[in-house]
Amino acid sequence: MRVSALSGPSRRLRPVRAAVVALMAASACLGGAPLAAAGTERSPGKPRPLAASMSDVIPAPVSVRPDAGVTFTLRPSARIHTRGGQAATAVATYLTGLLRPSTGYALPVQAAPRGAPAPGISLLLDAAEPAVGDQGYRLDVTGAAVVLRARTGTGLFNGVQTLRQLLPARAESATVQPGPWTVPGGRIVDHPRFAYRGAMLDVARHFHPVETVKRYIDRIALYKINHLHLHLSDDQGWRIVVDGWPRLATYGGSTQVGGGPGGHYTKAQYQDIVAHAARRHVTIVPEIDMPGHTNAALASYAELNCDGVAPPLYTGTAVGFSSLCATKEITYRFVAEVLDELAALTPGPYLHIGGDEASATPHDQYAAFMNRVQPMVTAEGKAVMGWHQIGAADVAHSPGRVVQYWGLTASDPLVTSAVSRGAKVVMSPANKAYLDMKYNPQTRLGLDWAGLIEVRTAYDWDPGTYLAGVPAASVLGVEAPMWTETIVTEDDIEYMAFPRLPAIAELGWSPRSTHDWEAFRLRLAAQAPRWTAMGIGFYRSPQIPWPAPAGSVAARP
Ligand code: ACM
Repeated sequence: MRVSALSGPSRRLRPVRAAVVALMAASACLGGAPLAAAGTERSPGKPRPLAASMSDVIPAPVSVRPDAGVTFTLRPSARIHTRGGQAATAVATYLTGLLRPSTGYALPVQAAPRGAPAPGISLLLDAAEPAVGDQGYRLDVTGAAVVLRARTGTGLFNGVQTLRQLLPARAESATVQPGPWTVPGGRIVDHPRFAYRGAMLDVARHFHPVETVKRYIDRIALYKINHLHLHLSDDQGWRIVVDGWPRLATYGGSTQVGGGPGGHYTKAQYQDIVAHAARRHVTIVPEIDMPGHTNAALASYAELNCDGVAPPLYTGTAVGFSSLCATKEITYRFVAEVLDELAALTPGPYLHIGGDEASATPHDQYAAFMNRVQPMVTAEGKAVMGWHQIGAADVAHSPGRVVQYWGLTASDPLVTSAVSRGAKVVMSPANKAYLDMKYNPQTRLGLDWAGLIEVRTAYDWDPGTYLAGVPAASVLGVEAPMWTETIVTEDDIEYMAFPRLPAIAELGWSPRSTHDWEAFRLRLAAQAPRWTAMGIGFYRSPQIPWPAPAGSVAARP
C-alpha cells in the first residue's frame, strides 16, 4: 500500500523548490553529525543509567535544584491529597489513572489537610509564586512528600508531567511492575517560554481513527504540548461530518492516499476527541484547508466548481491543483456553514482555514476569498489561524490572527507583513519542525522535499529569533506538523514523532538559556526506557547515546 501511496507525483516537488531542497539536504548532511547507514544503531557516548534524575526532564525546566541524597518513595498506602476543588481533583484522578496500573497501589484521592504537607503526593492549587503564571508549577520533593503547587489546573497538570518523568520509567507500564517507586529530591520551578506548543496530525491524507488520535494526545501531553491541530480536509479526504453538506463526509471522506477506504469522524466522535484533549489540557485546533487542497469537497458538490463539474475523488499525493470557486456566491455560503458547524463543536479559540499552496486560485481571487472568509471566523467568536500565505499584504488582518510559518527560509515577507499588522506567529519551519520528513536517506517512511531532519536539526534552532523581522514577542509558539502521505499506522506516527517531537516541545517550553545540544541528547537518551514502557517504537538516532535496550548486551563505549 505504501508503494502505491508514493507512486503519484511527489508532494510539493516543483522544479525550483526541488533545487532548493537538494541544496538544503546537502547542507543538512554537512552541518550535522554524519548520518548512519541504514539500520545501524550506534550509541556514541556512554550509555545512561536507568534511574530518573531531576536534570533529565524534557522540556528542560526553568529552574532545577536537586537535593543530593534525598529520595521520596511512594508507598502502597500513599494518598494523593488535593486542594483547590474540581480542577485539582481532576488532575489527581488523572495521576492515579497513570500510576495505578504499574504500581498496583490504590492511591486514593482525598482533600489535603491544612498545615504541613501530608505524606504522599499533594496537588495544591494555591501558594505557587505568581512567576509560574497560568501554565507553570512548583514541585518540591522531600523524603516525606511530593508537593506540587500551581495557580491553575493546567499548571498542576504540567507539573504532573514532570513528576512522571522523575519516577522510574516502568511507572509508564500498563501492568504491575516491581518497585521501589522513587522520586529524586529537590525543587523545580517551571513555566513555559511560549504559550502555544502544538503538534499537528494530518487525518486527511490517511485517515486515523479516534483511538489513535487520543493516544497521540496522551503522548504529546507528556512533553507539555498543549495544542493538537487536526488537518481535517484535503484533496484526498474530508474527515468531519457537516450536517448541511452531508456528502463531504460520506463521499468526500470515502477514500485516502493510495485508495484505501478513508473514513470520517461523526460529530460525537470529534467531540469525544475534544473532550479527551481537554482532560489532558490540550486544545484542539481544527483545520479546514481552503481555497486550495479542496478536491474532496469539489468532488462531493459539483456546484463548488467554477465549471459546475465535480472532479473524481483523488488518491495521489500532488498538491496545488484544486480550488474552491472564489467567484461564486455558493462558495461563501458553503464556507460560512462549514465554519458555523465546526465552531459549534470546538471550544478552543482558533479555527484554522489553511490557505497554503493555493496555486490553482488566481492571486486576486485568493485575496478576495480570504478577505471574505476571515470575518466569518471572527463572526463565530473565533480567531483566524492559517498557513503563512494568509499574511499576504492584500489579505485583510483580522483581530487575534495567527499565521503558521512553514517555509524554508530565514525571512519571509508574508510573515513580516502579517506581523506588522498585529498577527502572531506559530513557528513550524518545514526543514526543522515537520515530523514527516525523513531522518536520513534510508528512513522507510516520510518525504524529503524540505530536507532530512535528524534530531539535532529538529532541536538546534530558536523560534524566538529564527525569522528576520519577527521578534520573540510576536511568536506565539511552535508546532510540529505530521503530514501523512506516507504515514499509515499508529506505529508510523510514533516512529516519526519520537524522538523529534520532544525536541520541538522543548523549544516551545524551555528558556533559551537552557538550550544545549550536548545536555539535550543525554536527557533524550534517558527517555528511551519510558517510551519502551509506553509501547512507543521510536527511531534510535545515531546522534543519541541510548541506553542499551533491556535484555540486550550493553554497547561497548
Ligand atoms: C504545507 O506544508 N503545505 C503547509
